[in-house]
Amino acid sequence: MCGIVGYIGQKNAAPILIEGLRRLEYRGYDSSGVCTITNGSLLLRKCAGRVEKLAERVQQEPMEGVVGISHTRWATHGSPTDENAHPHLDQSGRIALVHNGVIENYDRLKQRLIACGHTFKSVTDTEVLAHLIGEHYEKASAAPATGMHPLTQAVVNALKEVIGTYGIAVISCDHPDIMIGARRGSPLIVGVGNGENFLASDANAIVAHTRQVIYLNDYDVVTLTRDSYSHTSLGSNTPALQISQIEFDAEAAERGGFAHYMLKEIFEQSRSLENALRGRIDHDDAMPRFGGLNLTTAELREVDRVVITACGTSWHAGLVGEYLMEEFAQIPTEVEYSSEFRYRNAPLDKHTLILAITQSGETLDTLAGLREARRRGHKVLSICNVVGSTIARESDGGIYLHAGPEIGVASTKAFTSQVAVLSLLALLMGRIRNLSPHRAHAVIKALEAIPDLITLTLKQNQNIQRIAAKYADCADFLFLGRGYNFPVALEGALKLKEISYIHAEGYPAAEMKHGPIALIDEKTPSVFVAPRDALYEKTFSNIEEIKARKGPVIAIATEGDEQIARKADDVIYVPSTLDPLFPLLGVIPLQLLAYHIAVIRGCDVDKPRNLAKSVTVE
Ligand code: AGP
Repeated sequence: MCGIVGYIGQKNAAPILIEGLRRLEYRGYDSSGVCTITNGSLLLRKCAGRVEKLAERVQQEPMEGVVGISHTRWATHGSPTDENAHPHLDQSGRIALVHNGVIENYDRLKQRLIACGHTFKSVTDTEVLAHLIGEHYEKASAAPATGMHPLTQAVVNALKEVIGTYGIAVISCDHPDIMIGARRGSPLIVGVGNGENFLASDANAIVAHTRQVIYLNDYDVVTLTRDSYSHTSLGSNTPALQISQIEFDAEAAERGGFAHYMLKEIFEQSRSLENALRGRIDHDDAMPRFGGLNLTTAELREVDRVVITACGTSWHAGLVGEYLMEEFAQIPTEVEYSSEFRYRNAPLDKHTLILAITQSGETLDTLAGLREARRRGHKVLSICNVVGSTIARESDGGIYLHAGPEIGVASTKAFTSQVAVLSLLALLMGRIRNLSPHRAHAVIKALEAIPDLITLTLKQNQNIQRIAAKYADCADFLFLGRGYNFPVALEGALKLKEISYIHAEGYPAAEMKHGPIALIDEKTPSVFVAPRDALYEKTFSNIEEIKARKGPVIAIATEGDEQIARKADDVIYVPSTLDPLFPLLGVIPLQLLAYHIAVIRGCDVDKPRNLAKSVTVE
């Protein structure tokens, strides 16, 4: 996810563009840049680091110009460096572009452009798009007039070649009186001002200047002047542009109108799941594909043991990964707390694969475990969300989540994206062994249906808020699940304890009889993750054991399951899916339950006491 701002008007553009980036920095903050049109040429400033660093650069070297674009980056291709920062220029250096999204076919386009003599300064997919627009601009300028501005025509023709997602803003020093915006899959809005117009990733960047906005639809292409806008579309029958009024204030806009980042990120999980899967499945062979493992198929096939090292929520995702790896690939897998793994003298041999899982890519215990394993000559893969993070850079290979910035300290969308990536990795390891294409096809089909099922699950939000109100004063909770849902129970307990400060423990449901059941009384709720899966009857018996001791039961159940509704005090229904994929749905009610209880208890949901988003101490 990245932040884009564009301005065309009568004021000095640079301050407006940089202030807009400050308001969008939650969308990405590893590098930033700004470009304005000055005296018939493009003036460009960009650097790795936070927006403040860019602001200082521009203050030291002021930028003139009343037309410009700016960008704060969340790296998807290429580490956060000055060269990879946006804006990017075309071959001629007279067209500038900023982009939010992923151009999936960028490599093929890049090779074709190189063959035509193009040279590139960065490793980003975005720079390829800038050059593609430049190539089409040359053709559009030489072709007979089409009634469309040649720069707009160039953007339209270039986007027709693109596979992937984009939200872009484009300017050219050959046409200082226009700015072009286009979107597919990434948000982009037009801000309609008085003698000035704006482009932005979301309303927060421009609400200080105008509350009149146009929310662009996929395939829209808009051409803005300081006093007008015109619209064309790459799709069929897309609706006409409509001006709306921004309702929420700037502060709320930063969270997309949500009360907290955590809630926003819970509700982003349909899209973040799509991002985790995007471009990684070869449907013909029912084979997942990863670009950055840096291990050959033969090397992957030699792996005879997997050791997962992680902390907290990432450790819970790793636990799901253990079940997935054993189910799909029959590879012995164990999950170690990084803080333990780094000090143990675990016997590892050359065919042991170490897999570090981390949202931030900076957790010191996980980094230390990775370094220890590499010191002993082992290959280490990492599953990270932050591109260019320390763990990502020090791994032999890895897989990025592409979940976008996760700001709330309590990890939510990272967990589901980690489980999705682990599902693909386990399928890959299985398919190069003896997992049948038929079985793999079935799992892939179910996995690709998950984003829509997440959207359905999120509709339980109000029901969950009602249930949260019933139990917000309880002092202790148990979370219980079996098989794939045991890690989900652990994750639910962690979510609750870390943001509501209520004591909560997760257990395998069957383990309850070996001690925890002594805790059960009328004031101690047990949350069961109890879908209609292979272990349902066993889990149902555990629910009956709790009810026999008057313990309240909250059940996360498969929609349509009436039997459990006759036994549990409260039920949260989620859609049905394959047993191995249920964690992707079952965790969402637990995230929302913890969130609403914490809000009712007046806790600081996004910044809980004693915690930090990235634990870089040991
Ligand atoms: C999860 O909600 C917590 N914020 C914490 O347990 C976190 O998962 C853990 O610190 C690991 O962080 P990482 O994924 O960035 O390595």
